[in-house]
Amino acid sequence: MRIAVFGANGPTGRRLTDQALAAGHEVVAVTRRAGSLAARPGLTVAVADATDPVAVSAALDGTDAVLSALGARFSKDTITTYSASATAITGAMAHHGIERLLAVSSSIADPHWRPTGAHFFNHVLDPLVNRRLGRTLHEDMRRMESLIRATDLEWTLVRPSGLFDHPAVTAYRTAETSADGVFTARADLAASMLRELAERRYVRTAMGVITTAVKPNIAKLIWNEGMKKK
Ligand SMILES: NC(=O)c1ccc[n+]([C@@H]2O[C@H](COP(=O)([O-])OP(=O)(O)OC[C@H]3O[C@@H](n4cnc5c(N)ncnc54)[C@H](OP(=O)(O)O)[C@@H]3O)[C@@H](O)[C@H]2O)c1
Repeated sequence: MRIAVFGANGPTGRRLTDQALAAGHEVVAVTRRAGSLAARPGLTVAVADATDPVAVSAALDGTDAVLSALGARFSKDTITTYSASATAITGAMAHHGIERLLAVSSSIADPHWRPTGAHFFNHVLDPLVNRRLGRTLHEDMRRMESLIRATDLEWTLVRPSGLFDHPAVTAYRTAETSADGVFTARADLAASMLRELAERRYVRTAMGVITTAVKPNIAKLIWNEGMKKK
């Protein structure tokens, strides 16, 4: 399959690209930063801003499916990266007759998501970090979800919990709507998307994905993600 990966130079997008190539797919890695990705066998780099309909349409020409790991940084201001890219991508997919879309969202997009036993997370971290500092980001993520749901495409909204880096794919879990856990390794998120592309268990619904076999170092996680979101 020839797969377009958006956010391909980001931490999840790089894993998606590596895993897709290892699985024998061809990948069109879409990035707005020329030179951030080197071409290699099976990989074509397309330079496009994901919110630019013309550039996105050109990047998607000849692809069979679209996987998006696009993201934005927390901001006090209105964020439009998710909704504007969803508009450009779904429009281009309709134009080219590409049907399958998997787009990374978040467990936060499920208003009922409260992981079991995670008292400190549910009562302190989640209200402060996700719902206050990340308010405008998650508002736009919900706009993206609504835009995608309204299309005739074969979409899956992929909802990880708190992302962390782990070198190997683990025995991750998936569930419809959202999954009951606080963390998701990016390697597992990527693997779950490629498996869903093949198995089609969550077409036109949301797929939660969590990692339980390994846990992140919390101090390191807060430091890394906090530094990145500045
Ligand atoms: N961090 C968490 O705990 C957590 C939890 C749940 C869900 N998520 C979501 O999971 C997703 C992946 O997160 P991540 O931390 O792996 O990646 P990330 O650091 O958010 O990377 C985002 C990627 O999107 C690209 N991008 C942003 N705007 C673009 C544009 N207009 N055109 C082209 N590319 C653009 C960035 O490229 P540039 O280098 O050009 O900026 C980057 O490659 C994000 O949507 C995030 O919100 C995160």
